[in-house]
Amino acid sequence: MFERPSGGERAVLVHLTLDRSEDAQDFAEFQELAASAGAECAVLITGRRSAPDSRLFVGSGKAEEIREAAQQGNAKLVIFDHTLSPSQERNLEAFLQCRVVDRTGLILDIFAQRARSFEGKLQVELAQLRHLSTRLVRGWTHLERQRGGIGLRGPGETQLETDRRLLADRIRQIRLRLGRVEQQREQGRRARRKADLPTVSLVGYTNAGKSTLFNALTQADVYAADQLFATLDPTLRRLELPGAEPVVLADTVGFIRRLPHELVAAFRSTLRETVEASLLLHVIDASHPDRQGVITQVESVLAEIGAANAPQLQVFNKIDLSGEPPRLERDSEGQARAVWLSATSGAGLNLLSAAIVERLRGGTVHGWLCLPPMAARLRACLFNLGAVVTEQSGPAGEWLIEVRTSRGNVDRLCRQEGLRAEWVRSGFGIPVV
Ligand code: GTP
Repeated sequence: MFERPSGGERAVLVHLTLDRSEDAQDFAEFQELAASAGAECAVLITGRRSAPDSRLFVGSGKAEEIREAAQQGNAKLVIFDHTLSPSQERNLEAFLQCRVVDRTGLILDIFAQRARSFEGKLQVELAQLRHLSTRLVRGWTHLERQRGGIGLRGPGETQLETDRRLLADRIRQIRLRLGRVEQQREQGRRARRKADLPTVSLVGYTNAGKSTLFNALTQADVYAADQLFATLDPTLRRLELPGAEPVVLADTVGFIRRLPHELVAAFRSTLRETVEASLLLHVIDASHPDRQGVITQVESVLAEIGAANAPQLQVFNKIDLSGEPPRLERDSEGQARAVWLSATSGAGLNLLSAAIVERLRGGTVHGWLCLPPMAARLRACLFNLGAVVTEQSGPAGEWLIEVRTSRGNVDRLCRQEGLRAEWVRSGFGIPVV
């Protein structure tokens, strides 16, 4: 649809350090991202700037260096490890005479290649179209020409307007289809809730080993590869646990630092699998050079999708590489907090199964919950679960409910309703256990 220089496989990679910190990790990951998208790195260009240039993002000297490097390296593609504004991207393409892709475009491209399910494909396309539409609105002056040809001329309609309209139509269509798929997914979730099957979701940085662990736990055959974002669509499997009820295990998309916002928005429904899980297994590559940084990145994406308070068990994977022994760590209250294991060798997998069972049981709570009048649905769910012992109404129309059930149940229901459980500690003579 767009008259842009077409992309090639050989690429010039550009990474600028914009603040004082030397982020070598970021740089290595950028190269991996480019390779995951199928680009062959012809030249790497690095530099340092205090702030991006508004016209070309880089300074004119650096732009010249990139142009020469592209010519010498016979590259028709330049990938920036930064988010470019639509006009910067356009100016750079005109100056470099190459196709320019920014970090968001690069990640969207990888996602487009990896999406396999109908829903995943729709979500990626939606994100791509949104990315594209911002670029159409503010630029692409070459599209402003009047369209010619008998029967093709609308009343004063320019090519740009037609393209915008086509994009808007397509976005609307995809939203409709996604809405239908989401309904089906919601039905699945409701059925699981009814059957009272808890969902355990694997989350973690891309390449941490989630799919490998998923396969090891469920003996399934999910695609695992040393590539970023090998798994894009959530995969659900029933997991039998020793001496406990079965659970549903969900493998989800990997996170990454500076995940494009379009993608977080597009994948919100898939990520609900994560938000509503009874337990999150946060898989961490124990051999990662910036282990703590990666943990922080995942925590921040979890916060962004509303899962910051979900119960979490950390799983330090790949101990065969880091040299640590398999073990289970507990917090100061004796609760299982982290498991160290290797998904490929199987060492420590039994510890993980035991920790999942323990965390899902979560101990029984017995106490009084104070629910505001707006929490009628939560109250009904508690009754459905058979968790309510007695009930009283308070002076301001609130409900005071004596509840006995697993802590996991209460946490999950409160999160689903977007409420915080408020336990009444005194006044009714029944302490919270
Ligand atoms: P995304 O799909 O990108 O989110 O990745 P993922 O977290 O699902 O990782 P995946 O399971 O695809 O594994 C990434 C790479 O790590 C693969 O090459 C695995 O073989 C490797 N891997 C996973 N677990 C282990 C482990 O315990 N030890 C070692 N040495 N390698 C592992």
